[in-house]
Amino acid sequence: MPDGEPTRVLFVCLGNICRSPTAHGVFMSFVARAGLSDSVQVDSCGTGDWHVGSAPDARAIAEASKRGHDLRALRARQLQGSDFENYHYVLAMDNNNLDELQALCPAPYASRLGLLLDYAPELGVKEVPDPYYGGAKGFSQVLDLIETACDGLVQAIKLRVR
Ligand code: 4NP
Repeated sequence: MPDGEPTRVLFVCLGNICRSPTAHGVFMSFVARAGLSDSVQVDSCGTGDWHVGSAPDARAIAEASKRGHDLRALRARQLQGSDFENYHYVLAMDNNNLDELQALCPAPYASRLGLLLDYAPELGVKEVPDPYYGGAKGFSQVLDLIETACDGLVQAIKLRVR
């Protein structure tokens, strides 16, 4: 990306009320902690439209809050075609999300797509499981995976923006 342009990161899941807003809030915390708030922009979206305009799931808000991340101001939106052009990193939570992105993404931007957990290879897990139909424990596991990968993503971006 050109010098001086912020690095833009988009997290994508199905509904944009559980996993991707969690990644959005966690990554914003870590970006601020790393002193990169002026050079990194963050957003999240869903491939589906069921929850457009909604706040994150109350269970995601509660679990994130326990760890110091505030998700309350986030509102769900659906993926749009311009996202592939506008975001340098378009990171899916699971392989279904990634398949959808790959089907929609114009070829010149295909290298921008990936899985969030690509940034935490030490976990040995590729996908953030959908916690929507489960209990609170699922949300805690989602936070564990997302915090580890967002840490790795901050390190990767630091190498680029320095
Ligand atoms: P998310 O979880 O993709 O992590 O936001 C879901 C939220 C809602 C639904 C599915 C997954 N839903 O079917 O409404």
